[in-house]
Amino acid sequence: MIGFTRANLIRFVAGAICLLLVVNFLGFRTDGASGTSLSKLSIRRVHKYAHIYGNSSKLPAAPLAMSKEREQLLEGGPNSTSTTVIATANFTSIPQDLSHIPLSTYKALPMGRKTSSALHANCTDPDPRDGGPITPNTTLESLDIIEAELGPLLRPGGAFQPDKCNAQHHVAIVVPFRDRYAHLSVFLRNIHPFLMKQRIAYRIFIVEQTNGKPFNRAAMMNIGFLEALKVFQWDCFIFHDVDLLPLDDRNLYNCPRQPRHMSVAIDTLNFKLPYRSIFGGVSAMTREHFQAVNGFSNSFFGWGGEDDDMSNRLKHANLFISRYPVNIARYKMLKHQKEKANPKRYENLQNGMSKIESDGINSIKYVIYSIKEFPTFTWYLAELKNSERKS
Ligand code: BGC
Ligand code: MN
Repeated sequence: MIGFTRANLIRFVAGAICLLLVVNFLGFRTDGASGTSLSKLSIRRVHKYAHIYGNSSKLPAAPLAMSKEREQLLEGGPNSTSTTVIATANFTSIPQDLSHIPLSTYKALPMGRKTSSALHANCTDPDPRDGGPITPNTTLESLDIIEAELGPLLRPGGAFQPDKCNAQHHVAIVVPFRDRYAHLSVFLRNIHPFLMKQRIAYRIFIVEQTNGKPFNRAAMMNIGFLEALKVFQWDCFIFHDVDLLPLDDRNLYNCPRQPRHMSVAIDTLNFKLPYRSIFGGVSAMTREHFQAVNGFSNSFFGWGGEDDDMSNRLKHANLFISRYPVNIARYKMLKHQKEKANPKRYENLQNGMSKIESDGINSIKYVIYSIKEFPTFTWYLAELKNSERKS
């Protein structure tokens, strides 16, 4: 009788271990890919490397403090029948609306305008003759390696200020975000070295939308604008898709006289501008431009149209879209699945003009669950409260 020989036992145990590993791996992957912005992956990453902004007891607790029900809800567990995730009751230690916290509650400003003015001359734009095409590094690297590389060159929260001259442009880079962790690493790895050469002062703000509603890129940018202004009086804002990498370092991220559409020539669009009024991808506006048009509309849920609506707003405010030449304003787009287009986008666009005054930074409702300063970016976890139905 062979029975359960030693060799068979070893095979059996080894097989069971492999099976466990595979199941564990699949579970982890599903978790990350299922569209949960609060996936275990993100929570682990976020909490391993972040320190809480300002360390004040008034500031929100980590999303790790989440209740089991909330976790299930966000992860599409058995209780997740509802599509809207408004479970704030579970976040007892989290203020409902951080937008009322006064500026002084925040840690020291990332940079001062006056500090070095007596010592240094004003920064000038880099000479275009020193610049040209660049090749982005698209190899996926873990965030901790990127932080180890770039962290020492930056101030906490992914802020930077030139040390040999007085920056003339204080630029908030606002990145609307959900579920693109791999892109985030590649983006940070490329954008910091690119920006550090530009003699501007900047800080990277990643605004992540919680689950429960379709992604609202425009609303995340509105939130980024409002929140970034609580940190510093930025002169201008560059709204930046996380999957776009600049391909030429003459593409300056400074403050434009007129709103500037930056991502003119994208590889996936054959390096051609698809149409004149396009304002998506990467765009730059001053604080005044953005305020003059009441920011973006909050009514565009899902893919498409929100940038066209901004384009209409600019026209309405007698502002022009400016652009750098196609040979300079070039970008590489990182690969991703095609998003599902919002079927209501054309209808929204048509109604848009009548809603400029009532739909924008003056009407956005949101809750910030978490603000964290990572070495290479400042991260906000935001839940949008504006309803999808009204749009
Ligand atoms: C959408 C825009 C998008 C553009 C380019 C348009 O149809 O409305 O939001 O930026 O296509 O992809
Ligand atoms: Mn894209």
